[in-house]
Amino acid sequence: MARVISVSSGKGGVGKTSLVANLGCLLAAQGKRVLLIDGDWSLGKLGLTLGVRPNATIDRVLKGEITLADATVRVRDNLALIAAPSGRVGFEELDEPTRNALFYQLDQLSEQHDVIFLDHSSGIHSAVIQFAAASHQHVIVTTGEPTSYTDAYAIMKVLSKRFGVRRFGLIVTMSESHAETEKVIARFGEVAESHLGVRVSLLDIIPWEQKMSESIRFQQPFVERYPGHELTRRFRCVLAELLKLPINVSAGLQFFGNARFPLSVGQL
Ligand SMILES: Nc1ncnc2c1ncn2[C@@H]1O[C@H](COP(=O)(O)OP(=O)(O)OP(=O)(O)O)[C@@H](O)[C@H]1O
Ligand SMILES: [Mg+2]
Repeated sequence: MARVISVSSGKGGVGKTSLVANLGCLLAAQGKRVLLIDGDWSLGKLGLTLGVRPNATIDRVLKGEITLADATVRVRDNLALIAAPSGRVGFEELDEPTRNALFYQLDQLSEQHDVIFLDHSSGIHSAVIQFAAASHQHVIVTTGEPTSYTDAYAIMKVLSKRFGVRRFGLIVTMSESHAETEKVIARFGEVAESHLGVRVSLLDIIPWEQKMSESIRFQQPFVERYPGHELTRRFRCVLAELLKLPINVSAGLQFFGNARFPLSVGQL
């Protein structure tokens, strides 16, 4: 049964999709069976980041045309993707039957994978929150800027107060001064822990790196384009730390166990 890792942020453009693509490639190269799900159902970019454009995208699952399994495309050895379209609107909110049907289908897919990464859209939409709340591990991505970590706090607040999530992994990206970012983020972690009663584990502070946008231009994940680069080594460390985070057992809606409603695709 797969472990589901949710990657979210309050503010957009902080590097979630890049992280998911790179961590997914590294983990798959280590021999784990990995599934990446693009949770940005309006402006999906995970496929582009991996250099693929599948026709079977998750909006077609939500419309009941195909199943999640049909939308699962193999993109590397051990690495599968459920892509999202770019430029469709209207999937930000999920009603309960749709959510349950998706959870049920994910349940089925989990047998074939070791780790599932959910790359969410930014912000606090109900679909993001419902999927994030149900996940086994929670990664929050932020930059060291107040506008970004204030939004990160907001998403942690909703997940902890409404869904009882107690553990978060924090990844800070695009840092231009490690020492300064470290100070700011340490304070942020203390405030979140004392006000929300959660534990925040800082997984890493990733530096701003010009070659990241270059790898996006070439539609090739950074770790594949620059396997010997220092940042690739950092991504490996982030992955190791992430996998050590305790599994969230307190969330109200686990994917596997509570979502056993055998809904057909037509009921989506
Ligand atoms: N460490 C980094 N250094 C420099 N640029 C980066 C870094 N990480 C990501 N980027 C760049 O920032 C841009 C946004 O990254 P990405 O799409 O991964 O963010 P996101 O959080 O998924 O955005 P969205 O909220 O729109 O889904 C991309 O152009 C990417 O190349
Ligand atoms: Mg993204």
